[in-house]
Amino acid sequence: MFIDTHCHLSLEDYDDIDSILADNRSAGIDKIIISGCTKESILESLKYCKKYGDVYATIGYHPSEADITTRVDLEKLEEQIQNDKIVGVGEIGLDYHYGKENSEIQKNLFRKQMQLAEKYHLPVVIHSRDATADTIAILKEFPNVIGDIHCFSGSLETAQIYISMGYKLGIGGVVTFKNSNLFKIIESVGLSNILLETDSPYLTPEPYRGKKNSSKYIPFIANRIAEILSVSVEEVSQKTIENTLSLFDLH
Ligand code: NI
Repeated sequence: MFIDTHCHLSLEDYDDIDSILADNRSAGIDKIIISGCTKESILESLKYCKKYGDVYATIGYHPSEADITTRVDLEKLEEQIQNDKIVGVGEIGLDYHYGKENSEIQKNLFRKQMQLAEKYHLPVVIHSRDATADTIAILKEFPNVIGDIHCFSGSLETAQIYISMGYKLGIGGVVTFKNSNLFKIIESVGLSNILLETDSPYLTPEPYRGKKNSSKYIPFIANRIAEILSVSVEEVSQKTIENTLSLFDLH
């Protein structure tokens, strides 16, 4: 059994959601946590949470939405996160990959959503791209909030800072790529600090790299982690499920 702690599920990417979920179940994927991070995908995620017992969601505005997210959107988000199947706020954070022109607007949106997470005692799912120092500085303003550093890529030192603040590292398909340096980090931080994720439809693991991703490929990620740590896949499954249930308060 596995849980995909971070993926996107939308008719924009898949023709038939029922069959995607049926394939997941056949591959031993017990639950998935989808992420709605635009106005439209938040509504779509809420719809799937209601329809499917094994689908949970985190919702929150992605930094790429910073310029268009309004006060009214955030008020609506505050109502939406009170839904029983919403298990966290995210993916939220900072993305300076295409420039820092609107960094103040991004930081403002990030802080407001961290405040919501704090108020409702929800974990956060963090998206941080080319923005490590600013991300860490804002997370430090909220010592009562914990969460998942989604699709972690960074140095061992950065990994250790996040872990010391109570965060887990989301590990996905990148770990199966030949040029990935994640193996050193995983070796050092161990299973207790890791969550499994696909970020589907993106970042498909080997041997399907280049094709559309789906939660059913989680076992390829788990196998690679088991190989790195010289433990059984069952151990990876058990420990990462334990981490997931405890962080997102799932049962
Ligand atoms: Ni994502």
